[in-house]
Amino acid sequence: MTVSVRQIHPVFVGEVSGIDISTPLTPDEVAAIEAGMDRYAVLVFHDQKITDEQQMAFSRNFGRLEDARGGNITRPEDKRLQVGMNDVSNLGKDGRPLALDSRERAFNLGNMLWHSDSSFRAVPAKYSLLSARVVNPVGGNTEFADMRAAYDALDAGTKMMIEDLICEHSLMYSRGSLGMLDYSDEERAMFRPVRQRLVRTHPVSGRKSLYLSSHAGAIVGMPMAEARILLKDLTEHATQPAFVYAHRWRTWDLVMWDNRQMMHRARRYDETQPRDMRRTTVAGEASTTAQVAAA
Ligand SMILES: [Fe+2]
Repeated sequence: MTVSVRQIHPVFVGEVSGIDISTPLTPDEVAAIEAGMDRYAVLVFHDQKITDEQQMAFSRNFGRLEDARGGNITRPEDKRLQVGMNDVSNLGKDGRPLALDSRERAFNLGNMLWHSDSSFRAVPAKYSLLSARVVNPVGGNTEFADMRAAYDALDAGTKMMIEDLICEHSLMYSRGSLGMLDYSDEERAMFRPVRQRLVRTHPVSGRKSLYLSSHAGAIVGMPMAEARILLKDLTEHATQPAFVYAHRWRTWDLVMWDNRQMMHRARRYDETQPRDMRRTTVAGEASTTAQVAAA
């Protein structure tokens, strides 16, 4: 089989064919997927019937898996999936939808805000890979917004003004915007804000992008209200329809995206019905604040 990629949106997103990701890949296949990611930033694979082990093995072709600790409020003993798998379903350990008044469910609703996975970590994620095991019958699309196209479309003055800005990201900012303001001391320590550049440069393509996320809630050296207005403004610009692709899930789809160049969000769905989505996350390589500003 030969890997081929067809662009399915005017500015990004490739649909991949000619590959079975449940089996070990050849170096050429890995290189073709990496090249596709650098170019399209979101890749869609259909009909990939995989186990958790196969999803983790496929993901490791692109780097080591991120340690998922510190990314949620679910206690280890309540987790449904093994270490290495991020559970982005609406299911509890018993396999049933979480109670609508549960704190875990409220926290998970934060995935419906535009974000970049793990932007709240000092070294944020490279790729996320999401496998659809059970698709909810109503809603539940995942939308992606191209932060390279968004950056390119900014006017020169804005580009100059934001070039060296550093934002503070925390899960408490994204969840705070949903009214979740009560955290234990342990959670507060776990969700301590980290610093990220607002403008990133892709290590391979050299393209600049906006590094926005609902986890961003402050800008170093800027009054809070002014920072929030700027972040809201940029987010509104970056998520306009021309830069957005909506993925409508089919069972056994796998969608892979580059968090360094994309934001995404889940859309509302019928939470009384199961939605079983499982994510693996490829760790990033360095802090964004260590990145030297491109000339
Ligand atoms: Fe996410």
